[in-house]
Amino acid sequence: MTNRLVLLNPGPVNLTSRVRKALILPDMCHREPDFARVQADIRKRLLKVYGLPAQRYSAVVLTGSGTAAVEAMIASFVPASGKLLILANGVYGERMSKMAQAYGIAHFTMQYAWGAQIPLAEVESVLRTDAMITHVAVIHHETTTGRLNDLAGIGSLCRKYRKIFLVDAVSSFGGEDMEFQKWGIAACAASSNKCLHGVPGAAFVIARKELFAQPGLAGPRSFYLDLAGYFREQEADSSPFTHAVQVFLAFQEALKEYRQQGGVKARIALYRRRAAVIRKYAQSIGLKEYLSGGSLSSILTAFYLPEGLTYARVHDRLRARGFVIYAGQGNLSRSIFRIANMGAISDEDIRRLFCVLKELVCRR
Ligand SMILES: Cc1ncc(COP(=O)(O)O)c(C=O)c1O
Repeated sequence: MTNRLVLLNPGPVNLTSRVRKALILPDMCHREPDFARVQADIRKRLLKVYGLPAQRYSAVVLTGSGTAAVEAMIASFVPASGKLLILANGVYGERMSKMAQAYGIAHFTMQYAWGAQIPLAEVESVLRTDAMITHVAVIHHETTTGRLNDLAGIGSLCRKYRKIFLVDAVSSFGGEDMEFQKWGIAACAASSNKCLHGVPGAAFVIARKELFAQPGLAGPRSFYLDLAGYFREQEADSSPFTHAVQVFLAFQEALKEYRQQGGVKARIALYRRRAAVIRKYAQSIGLKEYLSGGSLSSILTAFYLPEGLTYARVHDRLRARGFVIYAGQGNLSRSIFRIANMGAISDEDIRRLFCVLKELVCRR
């Protein structure tokens, strides 16, 4: 394709031509049986990503970005009498606090430096002493830095203290290991346009079925983001609002392709290999990784900007040569940049990226 941009930002991702073609399928009405079949198929395929049994879990799809799904999960699942413990070590953990605040949900945020590992002993001491806490929320892959949080460890604390475990898996669903039953994940929120390689505009929440009943809420906290309402309607093959029909058609195609390419195991292996290549090339030209030690995702790597180079200079040179990278957020904007490795990119794209980066680094 001419003028192809290689997207190395953490979503939206480069599409395969198969997914792109699904965007221009014949027009369809979201209230007709043909769309109901698409919606039902997407919901089923989402459960299959991690082999979840349909008797225990359900997926609800929304039109919106990942934030809509995370906000729907928090607004719908924490009851009026509940209290949410938020474990934050980046922008997206902090965003969950803002959501809880916006809805007036009782919450406590354990705030850590961006990229820090969340100390389980400290989490346990809060869970042991604050009996009001009913739910715990964390980001799986904190895209701010590439930190992969320890869902197994946090999940086992949730099980021990009988807390409901909510996960923002927006930038990891389908591309990292997630053992729902073993780790006690009660619900997770994610979107179509990251590890599943769909188009932006579709998001979803997967949860244990009983959560969709919202026994602790007198009425929905949000009119549009009420998961109980979505669940009721989608179980009846309908949906409360107009879906982004074309985006869903492309999402269904992306999920079919995902399965045919070998599902979650194959995608994890692909990302691990790509991330390893990126980190090796980076090391060979003297770029230093921002995180050292602990679990790292294989979806995104944050690097320090080389001395003497601003982000704008690195970004603009790469952009001129057909690559989009991502800036650091907040206070990290002056010191790091990020390279994600999702989507339809090739080994050759990565090789060419590092040719440009090498020129930049050598000619500083
Ligand atoms: C972990 C995480 N949560 C939430 C979001 C927000 O998603 P969106 O920008 O699709 O609303 C992102 C976006 O990158 C993310 O990485």
